[in-house]
Amino acid sequence: MQRLSKLWQRKGVRVGFVPTMGYLHAGHLSLVRRARQLVGNRGKVVVSIYVNRTQFGPREDFSRYPRDLEQDMRLCRAESADVVFAPSDKEMYPGGVGESFSTFVLEEKLSRGMEGAARPTHFRGVTTVVAKLFNLVQPSVAVFGAKDYQQAVIVKRMVQDLNFPVKIDMAPICREADGLAMSSRNRYLKGNLRMQAVVLWRSIEKIHALVRDSSRPIPAGRLKTEVRRLVKREPAARLDYVEFFDHNSLAPEAKVKPGTHMALAVFIDKTRLIDNARL
Ligand code: PAJ
Repeated sequence: MQRLSKLWQRKGVRVGFVPTMGYLHAGHLSLVRRARQLVGNRGKVVVSIYVNRTQFGPREDFSRYPRDLEQDMRLCRAESADVVFAPSDKEMYPGGVGESFSTFVLEEKLSRGMEGAARPTHFRGVTTVVAKLFNLVQPSVAVFGAKDYQQAVIVKRMVQDLNFPVKIDMAPICREADGLAMSSRNRYLKGNLRMQAVVLWRSIEKIHALVRDSSRPIPAGRLKTEVRRLVKREPAARLDYVEFFDHNSLAPEAKVKPGTHMALAVFIDKTRLIDNARL
């Protein structure tokens, strides 16, 4: 991959990169299309597919995370991606993490709250694998989805702090017709769990309306109570967190007004879903 990328660079070809963990859906494919738009027809689009063990906690769904490389390859071909880079665990962490691999990239501020608080080693795994992938693919631009908003902001910070020569582009969230954000994990939602999962989007819409219609900023605590109430109405749903924060610094905001960012994580039975929006 690195050799190919260097060859492209020598020819002055721009490389657009979309890192994923596979089991691609329309949300991922919208990033591939965006990468194509950013580099043009003369550029190259690389999609990586790698389920990165180090970003999963010990009790998380690493081993049951859905995988279908053949279907993913078909989808990438249909979107005219130039390369699918699907390295093996052996290539990414030869000898295994902790044995012969012992260097990590740690962002220490933006990764503290929300997903970082709920999943303590998650972002260390993300920044480390994304740094590795950037060194392998050497892209001019990399596209990340706003679906994982905190992740995209952290990657932007890492690139800025460590002088990676890559531009980070954030693409909007793709949703199902009823508002549920597309996610590889939605396939875990059997029976009526799928209906209950819409509570994330419904909460965002409700809060959005309250904020929009209020002439004054609203205390975050009041809005959190409202979200808790909405989530409680769904028998299989349990709120993990809901946060209101500044869209750049991710610092919590006590008073919520238009422009404040909102993010939440909800368990639907055993499946943990996240969503977010600028209010
Ligand atoms: P994964 O969850 O496969 O997501 C890959 C990319 O697709 C991420 O940038 C994510 O934000 C984006 N994405 C997912 N669902 C989306 C949706 N509904 N709309 C728009 N974009 C969406 O995120 C990861 O993988 C990993 O952490 C990774 C960055 C690959 C590092 O391992």
